[in-house]
Amino acid sequence: MDGKMRSLIEKLETRHSLSLAEYAYLIDRRTDETAALLAEKACMVRQQIYGRDVYVRGLIEISNICKNDCYYCGIRRSNRSCERYRLSEEEILECCAQGYALGFRTFVLQGGEDAYFSDETVCRLIGQIKEAHPDCAVTLSLGERSRESYQRMFDVGADRYLLRHETADKAHYERLHPPQMSFDNRMRCLRDLREIGYQVGCGFMVGSPYQTVQTLAEDLKFIEEFRPDMCGIGPFVPHKATSFAKEPAGTVELTCYLLSVIRLICPNVLLPSTTALGTIDPQGRERGILVGANVVMPNLSPVSVRKKYELYDNKICTGDESAQCRHCLEQRMESIGYHVVTDRGDVSGWKNSR
Ligand code: 5AD
Ligand code: FES
Repeated sequence: MDGKMRSLIEKLETRHSLSLAEYAYLIDRRTDETAALLAEKACMVRQQIYGRDVYVRGLIEISNICKNDCYYCGIRRSNRSCERYRLSEEEILECCAQGYALGFRTFVLQGGEDAYFSDETVCRLIGQIKEAHPDCAVTLSLGERSRESYQRMFDVGADRYLLRHETADKAHYERLHPPQMSFDNRMRCLRDLREIGYQVGCGFMVGSPYQTVQTLAEDLKFIEEFRPDMCGIGPFVPHKATSFAKEPAGTVELTCYLLSVIRLICPNVLLPSTTALGTIDPQGRERGILVGANVVMPNLSPVSVRKKYELYDNKICTGDESAQCRHCLEQRMESIGYHVVTDRGDVSGWKNSR
């Protein structure tokens, strides 16, 4: 590795900040050697804050009905071959009860932008979950909504919100989404969520169509400046019924590299080793943890609907054998010397002001 690369990595480690051009260099000139050095540093930093603990979140996919038509996504509106479903309130509460018994203390309600889940419905749901499981955190991942909506859901107890920014480059954003969707509104949502008081997660796909070293550098700069509490990154994986069916998938190598870089930019960040990473490599989630991630999000949705929440092809954990992802992941983490913990798993340093 050249002297410049070595000094950039040192600077990242000590100042948690690089210029756009420096981020671009870090990505463009990467080698196995730089990847190994970054992973080592990322694991050291994570070790100091979180030890060998891995947090689990129970993911409940509440609806695959979506008004949007993102070009990359398998549940996009125009995909006629997608069999649509929506879980009832009872089914969602039942998933939480089962999840609680399995040791989950965070429930992530994720879904397409489905108008059925009005503020009233979501607020009632949050109230019921909090009443049944007061020691649990509720994370929402329901897309773009108004500030008032985010505020109402926060006021009844929602703790965290995941909304990937998808790309920090406006022109790139416009090549991944139809004209009805706006980069500025996405960013507005993230700012609102932050101001309201949520623990906020952003993120992007690695290897999405038209992504370049430059757009990735912008993603890293955005993460540096926004300082998210959580950051979801996983490889882009093509879905057969989308415009990007023939595009190549992102790689494990670049995803892992960026996980290490993000850990060094935001030492405290809650960083999942994603299902998409586990989909392109059978050991993908273990590899993500070994380079700096500290969260896994097993599926808690009823097995009967899992196959239908197919954002991309060949998604794992959708068959009968995966009914208890929690145990499967626990064994996977133990096999690499990490421990799944039963804990709300708030971001380090978070003071609950409720
Ligand atoms: N490949 C990988 N990730 C995808 N997502 C949507 N479609 C795909 C795909 N084809 C991600 C998006 C979204 C999150 C819920 O899933 O980043 O924000
Ligand atoms: Fe889902 Fe292993 S984590 S089956």
